[in-house]
Parts: sequence; structure tokens; C-alpha cells
Amino acid sequence: MSTVVVVGCQYGDEGKGKIVDYLAPNANMVVRFGGGNNAGHTVVVGKEEYKLHLIPSGILYKNIDCVLGNGVVINLLEMIQEINRLKERGISTDSLFISDRAHVILPTHIIRDNASEEKRKDKIGTTGRGIGPTYMDKIGRVGIRVGDLAQTTYSIGLMIGKNWDLTGIHYQSAEATALAADLKEYYDILKKHIINTSDYINLAIRSKKNILFEGAQGLLIDVDHGTYPYVTSSNPSAGGVCTGSGVGPSKIDHVVGVIKAYTTRVGEGPFPTELHGLQADDIRDRGNEFGTTTGRPRRCGWLDMVALRHAINVNGVDSLAITKLDILDGLTEIKICRAYEVNGRVSDVFPSAPGDLYQVRPIYETFPGWTENSSNVSKWSLLPQAAKDYIDHIRTVLKVPIKIIGNGAERDKIIGSGKEIWDETRK
Ligand code: IMP
Repeated sequence: MSTVVVVGCQYGDEGKGKIVDYLAPNANMVVRFGGGNNAGHTVVVGKEEYKLHLIPSGILYKNIDCVLGNGVVINLLEMIQEINRLKERGISTDSLFISDRAHVILPTHIIRDNASEEKRKDKIGTTGRGIGPTYMDKIGRVGIRVGDLAQTTYSIGLMIGKNWDLTGIHYQSAEATALAADLKEYYDILKKHIINTSDYINLAIRSKKNILFEGAQGLLIDVDHGTYPYVTSSNPSAGGVCTGSGVGPSKIDHVVGVIKAYTTRVGEGPFPTELHGLQADDIRDRGNEFGTTTGRPRRCGWLDMVALRHAINVNGVDSLAITKLDILDGLTEIKICRAYEVNGRVSDVFPSAPGDLYQVRPIYETFPGWTENSSNVSKWSLLPQAAKDYIDHIRTVLKVPIKIIGNGAERDKIIGSGKEIWDETRK
């Protein structure tokens, strides 16, 4: 058996869905451990494109259990709609399991999310899906968990009213009752999927199954390790796997860190290697860098080694997957930030204060681009020499093996040794 974790090492949108899709055929179970429908994974299978927000991309394969762990926050109506969209396209969701400990996103969370964004001067640029307030209520011990909805509608209404009271929300009991009725209806539809997922995952581990943990978002927007306060409200880092799925750290075998061949960020916050003007527009258009969830244009820039070293450390990355290499095809030159200049000094430390991150000046190394089409090859040896040099440089500087390279949106556009990752880690 092996357990493999896939996490993002940038600001999210690294192409984790494609890497999970690549590793999934060797897995018996795919588990999401954090975030909610703020995430968006796009997987292209033949002519079909699937956009998933909550359900792990493993659902596209038959015979793989897909689990939403306790660390995920769930908008139940969105969940039902996502299940229905998959069913309409002939994808079975019978093997989907939802933790009874996962917290529920309520309409009030969405209102609070948007109201707080509206009020803040230093906007976060949230996805507006109610993610922050749901985690706030979870930590504040006034949240509603999926399993709580097994109670009667009357008890659920009382619980919502009591929690709203504690949160300082002025409510009418009729509103709490109406919401309770909706939640109960959603619960009844989803009931067959709801279980104690920690027990289920640990049983699978004891039964020597292969488990793939699918990260959402990225390390640089982790609430503890990212560019706080311009972060999401969960731990997309590898550490989040344990708390977000109820699996002990001794059970994790391998961590794959996913990086895009350049950098993107959606929402506000510091981004030292950000490009502006025509250069940014060019990369955005080539890479179709528009958010899967909100459709917002993504900010684009060069790779940042300072940020990546930080992400690799915190995640304990064992191997890297680089995605969207083909998007760089045809650029005359490509830059990599090797260090920051801070107050006239060279630094390789990723600062914790956003004010400091806004001040750093990236120090770049420039690499020649390539004119060939890198997406037509299926072997490392056939990649353009300049592309190999670019990747080799990343590997050397970061001191982590690069085992997977994505060179196109389609499922088969990938160079690598996914099976090797499972085999090497097999206990
Ligand atoms: P929230 O997660 O909706 O609260 O948004 C907080 C920040 O995280 C915003 O800057 C979002 O744009 C960003 N964010 C949240 N989820 C994702 C994601 O899946 N990809 C990229 N950025 C994300």
C-alpha cells in the first residue's frame, strides 16, 4: 500500500487536477482534505472537459472511492448540483463518501463573506463562496456539521438559532426553521454518501490500499504559511492532510508538490514576480489563465524560487510535478527569480509580512526560450533542449526530483513516471 499527497506549491491553480487524474489509475481512493467550492479543477478527457469544484477528480475513473474529508467545507446544494451534472454525463457517483464531521456552508456564510469583502479596504479578493466565515464558525465552535443534520428539522432549527445568537446575528426563528428544512432536505438526498470518513480511510490503509490525497489551493495561500491575510481560511499544505482527513502523519508516504512552469495568482495580495501589461496579457491568453470558479483573469508572472523553496520546506515535498510547460513554447526568453533584494541586500527568505513582500525586488536569471512545440512529445529526451535546460535548472536549484511534466491540457499530454511514484513508496 502507499499513500501519496498532491499539493500546490504556488497560489493555487497549479494544475493539480491533471496530476491527480494522472496518478489516480493506480489509486483505490482519492481524498480531499480541505477547502470547499472555492476550488476548481479542470480535467480534459478526449473531447470532454470536466470542471469540478468539490468532488475529487478521481470520480472520472470507475472503481475509485472518492472521499471528502472532515477538513472540507460543504455547500450541500452545490454538492447535489455537482453530483447531478456528473450523472447527466454518465459518471457514477456511487463511490462518493462525505465526512459526517465536515462543516456546512450556510447562506449566511456567503452573505458574511461578501459583506466583509465589501467593507475591507485591503480586499482579499475571495471567491465569495462563504469559505472564510464557515471556517470562522468551525473554529469558533458555532458551526453546523454534516452529521448534525441527522437530527430532526426542529432540533436543527434550534441549533442554527443558538449559533446565530452566539455569532451576534439577529435572526427570526422562522428563518432558522426555513433553513433547517432546506438543510434536512439536502441531507436526505446526500445521506447515502455520509459516513465516518476517517475510519473508512484508515481501514483502507490497513487493507493495503493505495490512497491519493488531493490538495486544493496552494501553499502560498495557506492560512498559516501563506501571504496572510491574503490567504484562504484553510491549510492547503501537506500538514492539512492529517487534520483534514483524520489520518496520522506516520501514514503519509510521499508528497508530490505541483508547480506551474510560471506563476499565477487570482485575488489580491503580494506577488513579487508579477508581470504587467502586454507580457502578462500574453501569458494569460496562452495559458487561458481565467479562474475555473469565478472566471476572474489570473495575474501572471515568472517562477519564484524563494517562494518555491518555502513551499517545498513546509510541504516536505519529495518530488515535483511541473505543469503547463507548453504554454512557454515560442517565448524568446524566460525568467526565474533566484532571490529577492531587500533594502539593498540579497535574501532568499520568504518574508511573513505582506508589507515586506510588497517591497522585495526579484533578482532574475534569464533563460533562452524554444521555438519547437513541446506538447507533441511524450518523452523527456524529445523535449526541446532549452525546455530541458529550464527544467534541469529548477531541479538543481530546488534540489527535488521532477518526476512529472505536464505539456498540454489533454489527459495524455504528460511526461513522467507516475507509476514509479506509487512503486517506490510501496510498503
Ligand atoms: P476564499 O478561499 O474564497 O476565502 O478566497 C481567499 C483567497 O484565496 C482569494 O485570493 C482567492 O482568490 C484565493 N483562492 C481560493 N481558492 C482558490 C483556488 O482554488 N485557486 C486559486 N486561488 C484560490
